[in-house]
Amino acid sequence: MDNADFSTSPRFAVVAAMQEEVSHILEHMQSPQCERIAGRNFWTATFQGHAIVIVLSGIGKVAAAITATTLIERFKVNEILFTGVAGSISASVAVGDLVVGTHLIQHDMDASPLFPRYVVPGFDGASFTADPEMSSRLTRASLKVLMQLEQEISSEIVYRFKLQSTKVHEGLILSGDQFVSNDIVRCELGKAHPSALVVEMEGAAVAQVCKDYGVAFAVMRTVSDAAGEQAAKDFAEFLNCVASPYSALIVEAYLSNTA
Ligand code: ADE
Repeated sequence: MDNADFSTSPRFAVVAAMQEEVSHILEHMQSPQCERIAGRNFWTATFQGHAIVIVLSGIGKVAAAITATTLIERFKVNEILFTGVAGSISASVAVGDLVVGTHLIQHDMDASPLFPRYVVPGFDGASFTADPEMSSRLTRASLKVLMQLEQEISSEIVYRFKLQSTKVHEGLILSGDQFVSNDIVRCELGKAHPSALVVEMEGAAVAQVCKDYGVAFAVMRTVSDAAGEQAAKDFAEFLNCVASPYSALIVEAYLSNTA
C-alpha cells in the first residue's frame, strides 16, 4: 500500500462540516482507505507524503466534538485542522476573504449567573486559543494560495465572486448552533464581541475537545456570506465554486513545507 506509516509519523486530520468542503481534498489523496465510525467516513491516506485522516464532521458543535474525540481516541491524531466556510460579522471581512482563527468563543454558551456569560464551565475563560505555530503556517499557506489564485481557479469564478481583492485575516471566530441569517442577530453578535471576524458552527467545539486532550488545532474559514438575509443563497453557491477548491489548495500548501 502506498500509505504513509500511521504507526510512527505524526498524524494530521482535516475536518470539515460539509461534503463540498472536503471533496477536492479527497480527490487529491493517494489510495484512501475508508473506515466508518459513528456514522462518519474517516478516510486515511497519504497527502503530500503525510499520514492524514479526512472526515466530515456534520454540522454543529456536538457533531464536531464527536468527530474530534474519535480522531484523537481512535486515530491518535496530533494535529487537527478544521476547514470550511463562515459568515462575516465584521465590516472589515468581505465574502471571499479567508480567516484563520487565533481564538474561538462559543457565542451561545450561557451558564450565567453560575458562570460569566460565554465561559464554558470548567475552563478559565471564554476563548480557546488555536495553536500559534499551526495558525501561522495556515496563514502563510492561505497567502500563498491567494497569490496563485488565477492559476488555480477559473477567471470567470474570480470575477463572479469578486475574488481579486481577497484578504487573509487572523483573529476571533465565534461558534454556535445557529446559522446566522438575520441582520439583528449579526449586529448583536458584533456588539457582544467587537473583535470577532466571522461566525460558524463548529470551530470552538473542536477547540474545547483539543484543549481537554492537549492536541494542537487550527481553524481556517472561507467567508461565504455576510450572515444577513441573503446568507443561505450566497452560502450554497459559494461552497461549490470557491470554498471547496480553496480548502484543498490551502491544505496542500500547508502540508508541503513551502508555505
Ligand atoms: N457558516 C457559513 N455561513 C454561516 C452563517 N451565516 N452562520 C453560521 N455558520 C455559517
